[in-house]
Amino acid sequence: MRIRKLYGIGVGPGDPELLTLKAYRVLKEVDMIVSPRSREDKGSLALLTIEEIIRERKHIVVEPVFPMTKNQAKLEYYWKKAREEVLEKGKGCETVAFITLGDPSIYSTFYRFLEFLRDFVDEVEVIPGVTSFSACSSIAKVPIAEGNEIVSIIPDVKENENAMHVIQNSDSVIFLKPKNMDEIKNMLGNKKAILGVRVGFKDQKIISGKVTEIEEPTHYLSTLIVKNERKKEPRDCAGL
Ligand SMILES: C[S@@+](CC[C@H](N)C(=O)[O-])C[C@H]1O[C@@H](n2cnc3c(N)ncnc32)[C@H](O)[C@@H]1O
Repeated sequence: MRIRKLYGIGVGPGDPELLTLKAYRVLKEVDMIVSPRSREDKGSLALLTIEEIIRERKHIVVEPVFPMTKNQAKLEYYWKKAREEVLEKGKGCETVAFITLGDPSIYSTFYRFLEFLRDFVDEVEVIPGVTSFSACSSIAKVPIAEGNEIVSIIPDVKENENAMHVIQNSDSVIFLKPKNMDEIKNMLGNKKAILGVRVGFKDQKIISGKVTEIEEPTHYLSTLIVKNERKKEPRDCAGL
């Protein structure tokens, strides 16, 4: 199989109306859609987001499993399997879209996928998407950053030994998959926070309050934004 063009497409956080016009057009045009999922027994959330859009066109759809594990041997196995599946099922397809929740540049599997398929691809285009944290911020109507403020993203508090340093030196901290809420509460308990759960999906929840007040259980599809109000210098570029 030779892929004339591979697209990495961000489909946004889950609400189909947050898809860009470009993503919408390309998704209707491509021959094949690759949509990663984390487990064999679970469907792909990115695919759920675009199911209405791709309904009329008979795309070839592949949902390879990319498990959330640090076991290198297991990862290699699944990546190889995904490549074989795409090359096998995509015979005759010239254009392929790899879709990802949010934006492909933020902790997505797209660039790893590209690395694995590089030798079979002639051209690549990346189409950005609305990130999960932009969606949380817009629903809560709370800005993530203004003026000179510094924003940090922490994907896993436990895995990042400099998390505390980063938190202390940021005005806003975005925690993706915030499974260690007890630890986060210890570090930032009295700060203001927004927790977005399954944002953009029908059962979305947005909880605002102090970090300690958040009792909603967090799971994979949760994003926590904490406003770390540090002592500030007078602002010289308000609104810019
Ligand atoms: C692998 S990262 C991908 C981030 C994504 N590329 C983005 O731009 O937002 C997965 C994490 O993104 C966050 N996330 C993605 N979609 C979300 C949604 N609909 N609601 C809440 N959080 C979401 C969660 O923290 C999840 O654990």
